[in-house]
Amino acid sequence: MTTHSLLLLPGDGIGPEIMASAVEVIGWFNKRAGKELFTTESDLVGGSCYDAHGVSITDETMQKALAADAVLFGAVGGEKWDNVGYEHRPEAGLLRLRKDLELFANLRPAICYPALAEASSLKKELVEGLDILILRELTGGVYFGEPKEIRDLGNGQKRGIDTQVYDTFEIERITRVAFDLARTRRNKVTSSEKRNVMKTGVLWREVVEQVHKADYPDVELEHMLADNCGMQLVRRPKQFDVIVCDNLFGDMLSDVAAMLTGSLGMLPSASLGAPDPVTGRRKALYEPVHGSAPDIAGTGRANPIAMIASVGMALRYSFGMIEEADLLEAAISKALDTGVRTGDIAPEGAETVGTEEMTRAILDALDSLDS
Ligand code: IPM
Ligand code: MG
Repeated sequence: MTTHSLLLLPGDGIGPEIMASAVEVIGWFNKRAGKELFTTESDLVGGSCYDAHGVSITDETMQKALAADAVLFGAVGGEKWDNVGYEHRPEAGLLRLRKDLELFANLRPAICYPALAEASSLKKELVEGLDILILRELTGGVYFGEPKEIRDLGNGQKRGIDTQVYDTFEIERITRVAFDLARTRRNKVTSSEKRNVMKTGVLWREVVEQVHKADYPDVELEHMLADNCGMQLVRRPKQFDVIVCDNLFGDMLSDVAAMLTGSLGMLPSASLGAPDPVTGRRKALYEPVHGSAPDIAGTGRANPIAMIASVGMALRYSFGMIEEADLLEAAISKALDTGVRTGDIAPEGAETVGTEEMTRAILDALDSLDS
């Protein structure tokens, strides 16, 4: 049996608390394997790295991220660093990881666990059994386009500039991932852009159509303007299977999708690079979609499920451990069935548990499902 190396980057706010839960789950799988199936090393990122080193991620940590079999990331950011220069803001560490590891494909599944259908802000029948996947392009678009600056116009006016830019190859590779994933699911892709106002949207649609026609005619394809897509997500979310979109639309649509599942605290994500031509292995980073939640940091009340489910995605997408990934997802579902709820997913007035108890419930469910 091979050993897999994981770089843990807990980050800021609730990051370290939920990473501790991930470490327990990794320990559980090591114990089950009867050996160190996963080795872990921990390092700083975000504001905590800025405090120690004056940058949001160090070159040394970047080297470790490049060498690891997968990176597990917690969350970054917080008021404390609001006045840090733009280049060194906590989020810059995460963006550098995405860019330098070329993690262009961001998978954000939104699954509504049966026990949580009531916790959604939408009617139960709209979200019950929901299982959709937002596939977000992650290394291009307005996040990275140049120029990106605030220009002094010299007349007392300034001009803020961000550049939305996409090349054919960037659209093509994310489109292929969308169709490949759809084939393993319900075989439908919704491509979302704003071709009615954006040139990148026009090109996006063109390339998606070409790839579809050439290599994936068996997959159902529909195009939907991004604003309409946001509306349809809250109107009738189960119409979707895979939604593929650019970096910024993906950021927004995935937050909307998260709420369908009951809480932002439920959504894991995987960010994948292209397969290595020799080993077939993809560079990968796994992180919860929620942020660092500074308001509850340090209180032990954070929901660890998105982080733990991110470990599940690592098992599935980096290590081909499908049975183990299914087991972990079943354990999360089982734990929820027993009624344990962190504050974010609890009905009004209901009793809530903290991060540790929720983690314990999931480990107990793993034990009982595995015996
Ligand atoms: C996300 C986050 C990040 C993003 C921030 C923290 C830079 O909102 O992963 O969705 O905008 O991509
Ligand atoms: Mg976001």
